[in-house]
This record gives sequence, structure tokens and C-alpha cells, in this order.
Amino acid sequence: MTVPVLTFFNNKGGVGKTSLVFHLAHMFSEMGKRVVAIDLDPQANLTSAFLSEDDLEALWDPDDMSARSNTIYQCLKPMTEMGDILAPQTQEINARLHLVPGDLALAGFEDTLSQAWPLAMGSSNLYRPMRLLSAFWQVAQMAATRHGADVVLADVGPHLGAINRSALIASDHVVIPLAADLFSLQGLRNLGPTLQHWRSDWQKRLDNWATPSFDLPRGAMQPLGYILMQHTERLSRPVKAYKKWADRIPTTYRESVLQKGATQSILPNDGDCLAKLKHYRSLVPMAQEVRKPIFRLSSADGAIGSHSYAVQGAWSDFKALAVAILERIDFPEHTS
Ligand SMILES: Nc1ncnc2c1ncn2[C@@H]1O[C@H](COP(=O)(O)OP(=O)(O)OP(=O)(O)O)[C@@H](O)[C@H]1O
Ligand SMILES: [Mg+2]
Repeated sequence: MTVPVLTFFNNKGGVGKTSLVFHLAHMFSEMGKRVVAIDLDPQANLTSAFLSEDDLEALWDPDDMSARSNTIYQCLKPMTEMGDILAPQTQEINARLHLVPGDLALAGFEDTLSQAWPLAMGSSNLYRPMRLLSAFWQVAQMAATRHGADVVLADVGPHLGAINRSALIASDHVVIPLAADLFSLQGLRNLGPTLQHWRSDWQKRLDNWATPSFDLPRGAMQPLGYILMQHTERLSRPVKAYKKWADRIPTTYRESVLQKGATQSILPNDGDCLAKLKHYRSLVPMAQEVRKPIFRLSSADGAIGSHSYAVQGAWSDFKALAVAILERIDFPEHTS
């Protein structure tokens, strides 16, 4: 039995992927789910959202050459020579939430993954390329098994390269954060066909290895829906411009991501829209400062007066989003 992996993905940068993983990992854990968050973005922004600078310094210490497995890259490093994947040493964020930290050195793994891709279609020696291509999933499952996790949440960078292809191969489900603008619509048009190719190309590799020596991900990448993020809105932009792009999202999502026909649905009542998240303004730097989710800010953190109402509002927003996502995931039977 494997643990479902949910990835937040859009090749348009800065749409709020990392913030969503951070907040939903906390929210799911508050709701009683056991969660592993895994940082597969070489920029490691998720890791710096969770951990203090002192902790980061210790994790990434270049002078410590011992065989460690404190970050995703350290787990994979032996594979760049003749070794195998190391089981990850996770960071405990709370009793039900553990992090597999990211690493800037992960960027160096891009070439290794690119080279493994054609080799996995060869006729001999499939162990190594398939081990490499599924390495993110193997690490995620090791961490999830160790902590009895119900779900793994993965954060990725805004790219369509080999690292993200492996991250998506590791994903059972995908949620797409986007904004109502030209760039996000364009991003959606790239994303749908890319997911489709990655899915079918991975299936070919699975079919090509008749007798696999270890468990492999199915690479389902099932789209659960999109989240309309409003923090990227420019206040000066006319409402008309916003409406123009927002009106196009439901059909663009259906056509390019689901490969289905156009819809008459209008936001926010489109069935594929998981949520519309507002701009949380001054709560954002306040929460980043104390490395807490916005919905857990207290008066001691500075959330007083109208801020405290905004904190309650954020709690309701993220709770509703978490419920909407959980409803769409098929959990293995052992979970509640
Ligand atoms: N709902 C929100 N309200 C206000 N600011 C937000 C909100 N969501 C995200 N942000 C801010 O927007 C910026 C981009 O968010 P984030 O880093 O999560 O995006 P990303 O998609 O992960 O970016 P990248 O593509 O670079 O990985 C950050 O400064 C974050 O704090
Ligand atoms: Mg990010």
C-alpha cells in the first residue's frame, strides 16, 4: 500500500504554490491527518518557510561530509555514484507533520534525471534508470511509511524540466494554483499537454519493464482542480480586465488540463474551482516572521484588532479548501 502524493503545480512562477503547501500541511495536520511535506524545488522556499536560519545552516553545512540524509539531495546523492537511495531524516514540525527538507544542490540532479529518461526505454539494465526516475517517490514513501502518514504534499519549482517530470511522476494528484491574468491562462495551456505527455511517457516506461525489482509510482497526476489566487492582482487594474481572464479560466482548464469540452460555468461556481483565496496583506509578513500559518497568528504575534478577525477568516478559508481537497483524494483504507 502506498501513500497518496499531492503536488501543487503551475509553471507560472510566484502563483502561491509554496504558501499553499505550507498552509495546507498545517491545516491537514490540525484536522488529524498525518502529513509529510517534501520540498522538491531546488530553491527550497518551503524549507525556509518551516525552519529557522540556524536549522537551515546545520542542514546545509558544506563542511560536514558524513553520509547524511537530512535533505532530499543528500538522500539521492549516493545514486550519482554507484550507491542507492538513503532513507530521509525528516524534520518534525509538529507531532503529525514532518518535512523532507529541500536543498539548493538538487539543481545538479537535473542532468542525471534527463539522462535516465531515454535509458528507461532501453532493453537492458532498467534497474538504475527506473530507480533514478522514481527516486523522489521512493523517498516520499519512505518518509510517509516511517511516520504513518495519510498524505504527502509536494512543493515544486515553476519549471517543466526533468526534476519536475520526476516530481509529477511521483504524484497521484495535482492541484493548480493560478491567477486571473494572461500569464496564468498561458501557463494552463502549457500545463495540460505537458501532464498528458509525462503520464503517457511514464506508462510506456512502466510497460517496458516487465519484471520490476521494486515498487514504482503509477504517475496518475490526476488533476483535482484549481485555486484562484488573488494576491497577484494589481489594485490599479480595472475590474473589467480581471473579469475577462477569470471568465476564460473554467473552459481553458477543462480543455487543456481535463481534455474535455467547453463549459458555461462562471467563477467562483465552477466545479473545478477548489477555492478563491484572497490577498492576506499585512498578515503575510507577520506570519513569515514567526514561521506560522496565517490562520494561527495570535495577539502576541501582532494580530490584534481587525487583524484577529482576518486571522479567523483565513482559518475558515483554509479549512474549507482543505475539506474540498480531502474529499477528492482516494485514501487507502487504513486512514480515517
Ligand atoms: N493569499 C496570499 N496573500 C498574500 N500574499 C500571498 C498569498 N499567497 C502567496 N503570497 C505571497 O506571494 C509570493 C509568492 O508566493 P509563493 O512563494 O508561495 O509562490 P510560488 O508559486 O511558490 O513561487 P515560485 O514559482 O517562485 O516557487 C510570496 O511572497 C507569498 O508570501
Ligand atoms: Mg515556490
